[in-house]
Amino acid sequence: MYISHLSLTNFRNYGRLELDLSSGATLLYGHNAQGKTNLLEAIYYLATTRSPHADYDNQLLNWDAAEADEPVVVGRLVVQVQTAVETKRLEMRLILERNGRARTNSFRREVLVDRRKVRLMDLLGHLRVVLFLPEDVQLITGSPGERRRYMDITLCQIDAAYCRALSQYNKVLEQRNALLRQIAEGSGSLDVLPIFTDKLVNLGSQILRRRAQFLAELARETQRVHYESLTDGRETIRLQYIPRLAGNGITEEESVALGDWLAAAETTPATVKSRLAEAMQQTQAMDIARGATNVGPHRDDWRFLLNGRALSSYGSRGQQRTAILALKMAEINWMTAVTGEQPILLLDEVVAELDAQRRAALLQTVQSAQQAILTATDPAMFTAEFLARAASLKVENGRITPAKSTGTTIL
Ligand SMILES: Nc1ncnc2c1ncn2[C@@H]1O[C@H](COP(=O)(O)OP(=O)(O)O)[C@@H](O)[C@H]1O
Ligand SMILES: [Mg+2]
Repeated sequence: MYISHLSLTNFRNYGRLELDLSSGATLLYGHNAQGKTNLLEAIYYLATTRSPHADYDNQLLNWDAAEADEPVVVGRLVVQVQTAVETKRLEMRLILERNGRARTNSFRREVLVDRRKVRLMDLLGHLRVVLFLPEDVQLITGSPGERRRYMDITLCQIDAAYCRALSQYNKVLEQRNALLRQIAEGSGSLDVLPIFTDKLVNLGSQILRRRAQFLAELARETQRVHYESLTDGRETIRLQYIPRLAGNGITEEESVALGDWLAAAETTPATVKSRLAEAMQQTQAMDIARGATNVGPHRDDWRFLLNGRALSSYGSRGQQRTAILALKMAEINWMTAVTGEQPILLLDEVVAELDAQRRAALLQTVQSAQQAILTATDPAMFTAEFLARAASLKVENGRITPAKSTGTTIL
């Protein structure tokens, strides 16, 4: 698939933007703080409904517009997506309403597919992207929450059922935790707890199983790419799922074994359910004491091993970057295999930090993509051959102009 047109209104530093895009590679270049990252963010936001950078969605509204003295401020992101079979128009509206007298603001989002209003979640799956960021290395060194977020965002782009289960799970989890706290305080009833536990087990077991299968598939492809294209067969990377499917006292090795069991073809939904139900039963007293649910996919983690050792503790920065590159390249192949269509690649200043071999591997992936949008401060870091084939656009203070031709123009 590819985006043929992007239109932004009051999004970040873009007051108004109408931009035609073509398939193949597009290079956005320009000085710092001009809007390159913001443009990739807009596309990613339409694909996932989440921003990789903002803490709150209302930060995405252009601040001059948001601060103007208007009762309603609307930001708008629209893309025209071309797939193998159809053209789709996706729109997200960011709406800030001011209640003058109460001096309160309300913020909401509206989503339209082909000009029809749909639920936020129904935007997912129409536009699929793989995003490369310099800070992706935090997937290795950062918190488990970041690694869960990665699994969820990636899976939600291709699996609506997963996304629905996840959203319901999070709601039920909150309800169960509230009840646990009430029970501890003496105001909640223990009789109601099994209702929430059962719901959580139902949804949680679906999530655990899907994540396990996803990571197993991604692990195989990551290992292959890493071995064949990035390290010339010198190093072996592994991904391991560490599901939270048992109470305390379980070792990491035992959790990894549970992860393998979850991904195994012969494991049935019913056995996963009874396993999770059992774990919840075991930790119930602790749950009440802590006012929080101790087992379930909201406590999951996964990790990288390089030549058998934890990459987060023993890997060099270069090895960590290479592993992330392998993961992202694998993600592209995985998404293509699952959906039958190539995702759009978004690369934010990642080319600059790679050495020659890995840069070449990445640029080869970029050139074989149906559409890739890259940013850089300096186009000179790309080869003349690459630049000759890519469309170059200059980004300057929220405006985008085609690059001036530097050589002879071939008509
Ligand atoms: N909500 C907003 N409204 C207007 N401008 C914004 C908003 N959020 C960020 N900016 C501005 O956008 C610019 C950063 O754009 P960015 O895309 O990150 O630049 P770069 O070209 O370096 O990637 C900064 O000048 C920042 O002040
Ligand atoms: Mg940037």
